[in-house]
Amino acid sequence: MVHMVLLMRFLVLVASSVKSSADKALVLGDSWAEYSLETLQEKCDTITSMVNRGIAGTTAAEWAAKDNCATKPPDSLCCRSTGSCSLDDVSFNDTFRTAWVSIGGNDFFLTGCSAAPATLSAIQANIQKVVADLQALSPQTTIVLTGYSVPSSPLTWHPSPSCSEFSALLPLNAAVKAAAEAQSVDYVDVSQVMGGNATQYSDAQFYADSIHLNEAGYRQLWDHPPLQAAMQCLLGQSVSGAPRKLKGASLASLAVILPWMR
Ligand SMILES: *[C@@H]1O[C@H](CO)[C@@H](O)[C@H](O)[C@H]1NC(C)=O
Ligand SMILES: *[C@@H]1O[C@H](CO)[C@@H](O)[C@H](O)[C@H]1NC(C)=O
Repeated sequence: MVHMVLLMRFLVLVASSVKSSADKALVLGDSWAEYSLETLQEKCDTITSMVNRGIAGTTAAEWAAKDNCATKPPDSLCCRSTGSCSLDDVSFNDTFRTAWVSIGGNDFFLTGCSAAPATLSAIQANIQKVVADLQALSPQTTIVLTGYSVPSSPLTWHPSPSCSEFSALLPLNAAVKAAAEAQSVDYVDVSQVMGGNATQYSDAQFYADSIHLNEAGYRQLWDHPPLQAAMQCLLGQSVSGAPRKLKGASLASLAVILPWMR
């Protein structure tokens, strides 16, 4: 009887730890973030709710400057009805467990996809500023950066020929990786996840245009095992600081811990 009561209490604890605000995800940044809608939650088993704060067209520089309606005109990207490029405008009392930050692409296109070290280090510095701001506001959040997958066709909308090379985005991804390392957050290389690499474009079935993923593309992105691992999407995977560790292991290990349950 005592065992039964303890078991009940334990099960209540397990049940209440499974769904908590600690399982909320934040998606933040540019069009790669915005157009992902809520696909992350669909593909990440451990995320129970999410906020998408992506704004297509925005730059790392704008997010680093915390641009919003106080600093930018009403028709600017960082001051739309739902828009703001300021982390201060995100509700951080939500306790985000995981955040995917997609920034730097638009800064890079504005330079004509320049691989000049000074250009790339300026982009890196702005990415680092945004990550540092996020870390300060939300220290418990696991932050993940990815950079971008190889485009599916030449980026002909951009006048610079260097934007149309297979490997155009690789110097940018190196800057994103350097920013992640400098801030001690996860960088997951997704450059080849859509089938492209330094000598060929990505598979068009995953793309809405040359650079933006479609729904199949986002499914392919979130399914990338290193990204699933970095975002702690797998049931039973250990999640730092959260009782969620119990979730995946729960039923199997309960039977081990509490053999009389059978
Ligand atoms: C969360 O933060 C927002 C804005 O910062 C505030 O309006 C709201 O009252 C806060 N909610 C709680 C539960 O503290
Ligand atoms: C790119 O992928 C193709 C097809 O898988 C392969 O043949 C080629 O060697 C790859 N190129 C590089 C640079 O990895």
